[in-house]
Amino acid sequence: MRHFQFYNPVKILFGAGQIANIAGQIPQGSKVMMTYGGGSIKKNGIYQQVTKALSGFEYVEFSGIEPNPCYETLMKAVEIVRKENVDFLLAVGGGSVIDGTKFIAAAAYFEGEDPYAICTENAKVRKAVPFGAVLTLPATGSEMNCGGVISRRSTQEKFAFSSRQTFPRFSILDPTVTLTLPKRQRANGVVDAFVHVTEQYLTYPVQADLQDRFSEAILHVLVDNGLRYVDEPEDMDAASNIVWACSMALNGLVAAGVPEDWGTHLIGHEITALTGLDHAQTLALVWPGLQAEMMEEKKEKLLQFGKRIWQVDRAEEAICKTEEFFRRLGEGTRFSDYPQVSDPQAVIEQIVARFKERGTLLGERSDIDYAKVRRILESRK
Ligand code: NZQ
Ligand code: ZN
Repeated sequence: MRHFQFYNPVKILFGAGQIANIAGQIPQGSKVMMTYGGGSIKKNGIYQQVTKALSGFEYVEFSGIEPNPCYETLMKAVEIVRKENVDFLLAVGGGSVIDGTKFIAAAAYFEGEDPYAICTENAKVRKAVPFGAVLTLPATGSEMNCGGVISRRSTQEKFAFSSRQTFPRFSILDPTVTLTLPKRQRANGVVDAFVHVTEQYLTYPVQADLQDRFSEAILHVLVDNGLRYVDEPEDMDAASNIVWACSMALNGLVAAGVPEDWGTHLIGHEITALTGLDHAQTLALVWPGLQAEMMEEKKEKLLQFGKRIWQVDRAEEAICKTEEFFRRLGEGTRFSDYPQVSDPQAVIEQIVARFKERGTLLGERSDIDYAKVRRILESRK
C-alpha cells in the first residue's frame, strides 16, 4: 500500500423524506441559488419538496443545466451569483447539475481571465461558494466527491477538475427520487459506478487488502441489485443499495493508497464531447476494449476480479462476463449499438489525433498511448 491522505468532509442525509431537512443544513440568513436541469424535478415532486424546505430562505433559481454541463450555460449562472450576492448554492439533480454547480461555485470567485482554466490548465481554486446537493440520479458519485467534468460547446471539449474547495457541504440521498428515472439512466448509473470501482481496482496489486475487499463488495452489490434496480423501479431495497454503492464507488474510499487507471473514462469523455453519447454509454463501449488491450499488464488483478466477482478462472472470461452484464442492463457495448453515431471511424480518427497532439498517456502506468487508444476503439466497432 502506498502513502495516502484520506479526506472526505461531505455530510450525508440518507433516506426517504430527508429533503425536508435541508433547511437545517444551510447557514441561517444565506441567500441561496437553487440549480437544476431540464425540469424532471418539476414532474416528480422533488422541486415542490425542495422549495418547501427552502421557504425560510431568500432564494433564486437557475435552471437549464444540461446533461454534460456546458461552460457556456454555467457562466450565465456565475453572473447571477455575482450580481445577486448569492452565498449558498443548492444543486438538485444528477451528476451534471452537481458538477455544474461545483464549477459555478469555483468560477464565481475565480480571479484569472477565463474560469475554464480550472479544467484545462489545472488553475487553482482558492475559494468557492459553499453548496449542498439533492441527488436525483445515482451514478457519478459527484454528491460525495470534489470533482466535476465540464464541457465546452464551442470547442467540443470535455475536461475534468477537482479541488478541496468543491466538496458539497452536505448531500441528500433519498432513494425514492429514483422512481421516475428512465431505464436508460438506471442502466447508466449501475455501469458508471461499476467502472468507477474498476478504474481504482483493476490495475496491479499493491497488497491493499481492505481497498480490494471494499471494491469487491461494491461490485457485488451492483451485480446483485443492478438488474432488479433497472427492471423493477418500485423495489426500494434495490434502489437504496444502488444509491449507496454509487456514492461509495467514487468518494475516496477505494482509491486510498492504490494505483488508478481512468483510461476508460478519459477515452469516454472524448467520445461524449464529439458525439453526445451518455457518459456511461461510452464507458460500456470502451471498457471491454481497454481491458483486452491491457490484459497482460492487468493480468493479476483481472484474475482476482474474475475469480471473486464472476467465479471464472481466465481474464478473457472476466472481461466477457462484465460485457454481458452491461448488455443485460440494457447498455450498448459497441459503436454499432449506437446508430446515432453515424461515422464511428471519423470519431476514432479525431480522438486519436487529439491524444497524439496532446501527448496523452493513459492508465495506471501511463502506458496507453494514442496507438493503443486506436486499437482499443477499432476493436469496439
Ligand atoms: O435535466 P433533468 O431534467 O434533471 O433530467 C436528467 C437528465 O436528462 C434526468 N434525471 C435526473 N434525475 C432524474 C431524471 N429523470 C427522471 N427522474 C429523475 N429522478 O437524467 C438525465 C441525465 O442526467 P445527468 O445528470 O446528466 O446524468 P448523470 O448523473 O449520469 O451525470 C453525468 C455527468 O456526470 C459526469 C459525466 O461526465 C457527465 O457529465 N461525471 C461526473 C463525475 C464526478 N463528478 O465525480 C464522475 C463521472 O465519472 C462522470 O464523469
Ligand atoms: Zn464515470
